[in-house]
Amino acid sequence: MRILLTGHKGYIGAVAGPLLRSSGHEVIGLDTDLFAGCEFGDAAPDIPEVRKDIRDLTKADLEGFDAVVHLAALSNDPLGNLDADLTYDINHTVRRGRRSMTRPLRSTR
Ligand SMILES: NC(=O)c1ccc[n+]([C@@H]2O[C@H](COP(=O)([O-])OP(=O)(O)OC[C@H]3O[C@@H](n4cnc5c(N)ncnc54)[C@H](O)[C@@H]3O)[C@@H](O)[C@H]2O)c1
Repeated sequence: MRILLTGHKGYIGAVAGPLLRSSGHEVIGLDTDLFAGCEFGDAAPDIPEVRKDIRDLTKADLEGFDAVVHLAALSNDPLGNLDADLTYDINHTVRRGRRSMTRPLRSTR
C-alpha cells in the first residue's frame, strides 16, 4: 500500500516508518518538523516527506494514498499547556474531520 504517515518524525513515527517500509509498503511522511534540531540519537530515517501542517491539508494532498497512519499531534502535557486552543485544534478538530484532513476523503465523488 501507499501510506501517508503523519508525524513520521516523532517518537512513534520514527519507528513506524521503517517498520511499514520493511513490510513492503511505500511510505511518505508528513510533519511540520516541530522538533527540528533536537535530535540526539541516530539520524532520522530517510523517508520521502512533505513538510506541512495537517491543518493545511487539502484533498490533493491525500490523493493516491491507500491509507493514512495519523500520528501528528502535540502529544505531551507541557506542550499542550503552552496553548490549549492550538492543541485542541491540532489534536481534536482535525482528527474529527471538522477541518480539512479527513473531510475531503469523505466527500470524494
Ligand atoms: N509516545 C507514546 O508513548 C504514546 C502513547 C499513546 C499514544 N500516543 C499518541 O501517538 C501519537 C504520536 O505520539 P509521539 O509520541 O510519536 O509524539 P511526538 O510528539 O514525538 O511526535 C509528534 C509529531 O507530530 C508532528 N506534528 C505536531 N503537530 C503537527 C501538525 N500540526 N502538522 C504536522 N505535524 C505535526 C511533530 O513535529 C512531531 O514530529 C500522538 O497522538 C500521541 O498522543 C503516544
